[in-house]
Amino acid sequence: MRQEELELLLDDMSLHEKIYQLLQLPGTYYDGTVTTTGDNRDDSFSRDCVGQAGSVIGVCGAKEMKKIQDQIMESQPHHIPAVFMLDVVNGFRTIFPIPLAQGASFEPELSGRCARAAGKEAAVSGVQVTFAPMVDLVRDARWGRVMESTGEDPYLNSRFAEAMVTGFQGDDPGSPYSLAACVKHFAAYGAPTAGREYHAVDMSDRELHEYYLPAYQAAIDAGSELVMTAFNTLNGIPASGNTHLLREILRKEMGFEGVLIADYAALEDMIYHGFAENREAAARLALTAGVDIDMVTTIYSNELPRLVQEGKIEEKLIDEAVMRILQLKNRLGLFENPYKEADEREEQEVILCEEHRILAKEAAEKSFVLLKNEENLLPIADTGKKIALIGPYVNEKNIYGAWSFLGDSQDAVTIQEGVEKVYQQNLLTYAKGSPMLDESEEAKIMVEGFYHEKENRGNEQKLLEEALALAEEADVVVLALGEHFQQTGEGASRADITLPQPQMNLFREIKKTNKKVAVILFSGRPLDIRELAEEADAILEVWMPGTEGGTAIAETLAGIHNPSGKLSMSFPWCVGQVPVFYNQPSTGKPYHDGEKSGRFRSRYLDIPNGPLYPFGYGKSYTVFEYLDYYITSEILRKEGSITAGVTIKNTGEHEGTETVQLYIQDCFASVVRPVKELKGFQKIKLKPGEEQEVSFAITEPMLRFWKSEGIKDSEAGEFKVYIGTDSNCETALGFYLE
Ligand code: BGC
Repeated sequence: MRQEELELLLDDMSLHEKIYQLLQLPGTYYDGTVTTTGDNRDDSFSRDCVGQAGSVIGVCGAKEMKKIQDQIMESQPHHIPAVFMLDVVNGFRTIFPIPLAQGASFEPELSGRCARAAGKEAAVSGVQVTFAPMVDLVRDARWGRVMESTGEDPYLNSRFAEAMVTGFQGDDPGSPYSLAACVKHFAAYGAPTAGREYHAVDMSDRELHEYYLPAYQAAIDAGSELVMTAFNTLNGIPASGNTHLLREILRKEMGFEGVLIADYAALEDMIYHGFAENREAAARLALTAGVDIDMVTTIYSNELPRLVQEGKIEEKLIDEAVMRILQLKNRLGLFENPYKEADEREEQEVILCEEHRILAKEAAEKSFVLLKNEENLLPIADTGKKIALIGPYVNEKNIYGAWSFLGDSQDAVTIQEGVEKVYQQNLLTYAKGSPMLDESEEAKIMVEGFYHEKENRGNEQKLLEEALALAEEADVVVLALGEHFQQTGEGASRADITLPQPQMNLFREIKKTNKKVAVILFSGRPLDIRELAEEADAILEVWMPGTEGGTAIAETLAGIHNPSGKLSMSFPWCVGQVPVFYNQPSTGKPYHDGEKSGRFRSRYLDIPNGPLYPFGYGKSYTVFEYLDYYITSEILRKEGSITAGVTIKNTGEHEGTETVQLYIQDCFASVVRPVKELKGFQKIKLKPGEEQEVSFAITEPMLRFWKSEGIKDSEAGEFKVYIGTDSNCETALGFYLE
């Protein structure tokens, strides 16, 4: 439709019709398949709401969706189609690694391809909008949703944000097999106080603009059609009723023109926050702040008609919101084709197709981070060594992470299934060794009946004895340990981020056999793994790797694939350090771990300052040497460009991929700057003995920072350049900006 036609349509709609466009209902109201999270405290929707809702959440399946679409279009007076939305995060039915793991690939283009594939599966199943990407910057590993983010760095997150939006939306969201993207959660949801879910966020404008807003901005610049508000308060005001945040910052400053949707029942939360005194106030505050869609509450649909009739709110605000929603439907092509790509036959062909499984394996492999590898224990080549595979994750199919409700764990390849294809069978033995969780930990993830199949615990002593017997017989033990997948995700903050007790017990007992132990670590967050880091011979972090996790792990163990992932979030030394992140501001009394200094330094008396493993860290089976650093000039003019580079040589015995990282430090400025900031990265693949020069152009815009409202600029003076293998890299080059 042309804009004039949309305007005519809007003019012809009654007030109630318009208000129903602002409502999003769950598929349950249509007997659909429901796949959402959140508490539904509000379920008193009128028949008209159900018949005329502007959008529906949680329906999937082409047949289901078409039925509901027909129903709505029939009862909507102007036959306006609904738009169908769902969380398609790290996959639809084919599941890719969790976003935090994808961040570790340092390959945004790969995440773009995963988004495209997930989007295609979703599109043929009747989904038109995905609530992704989640780009909240994260620094606190206690927060359960760090798994949904690509990590702690604004530059890295921005690259992933734009790649994912482009992956989902293609050239435009109306094009075949594209979904509209919805970047979330605006803003700063990733910084809840003390890492506790839904807790308050307080931060300065500087912190917000420099670290937290860039990834949302990148998603908006890449054309994200929607933005979702956050559950949290920001400096005392709930995001969904925060006019300054949504109108001044999001719309004016960041130039967002699309549809703004409140997170699940977030309008109602404003009452619990003690911000809106009742439902009427919640409706008024949210609409005034510019929220277009009310997800799953009756607040807009019940309160707005009266507010307009009593003159307490201008109808113009409703018209603006409706127009944005009509424009979204129009861009998706729904007026011409309300089912978009939904197609039962294509569902059979596209979902879990070979091409998507191959991509899932590639994404999993590239996300693995080799944290430790003493005496090159890994890879374990198929050369006659007896391998005991032990641990609750050896045969576990729940390896998708908490945000993959459409993935069927039965489709997943376990480690056991993976290694059987790679090694000679007679060399392998398997044992569970311990339950995943102890009973009290299991009870915690089953709070309020949240779905989780209770584990068949077996006899713990017997499990341990079987495992120890196999370990004794073996040449090497591969221990597959980790968090339970429901210990991460929404509503899964943890204060003690260690491995579950039964698994630590298993680890300690296995160590007593004096066999070499390689740990395969599953997690949705950086964990406190000090003891493993000390005692294990090798550690491979595999996150929640998705459908082809087991295949990718087996091929990595065997050396068919060489790990190349780099941490997208620091692993704390212990929880007392959290939040710990590399790009911290310089302190007035700096301290470097290990240095001899007096007492009055910025340090802990009892633990190191640095994390256990820093951002950007990750080993390889081979060795990369950084040689011959150079910079083409020590002076950078404002309009000019200089180049800094280095030669990387593979001096090890395996072909491998290295992510070369560029960090810059602004040494003196009118605002204290971070000790280092990531400004670029390049992935290179080298054969043994091969070398390659890697260079980065440095220009003035890369040196700008947020100075005060509306002003982003650089300052002349001294800068340091670090090029290296992780954020701890030390060899510095220097230049002056004129
Ligand atoms: C989450 C969102 C999600 C929404 C719909 C909320 O609980 O915070 O990220 O998109 O539910 O499922």
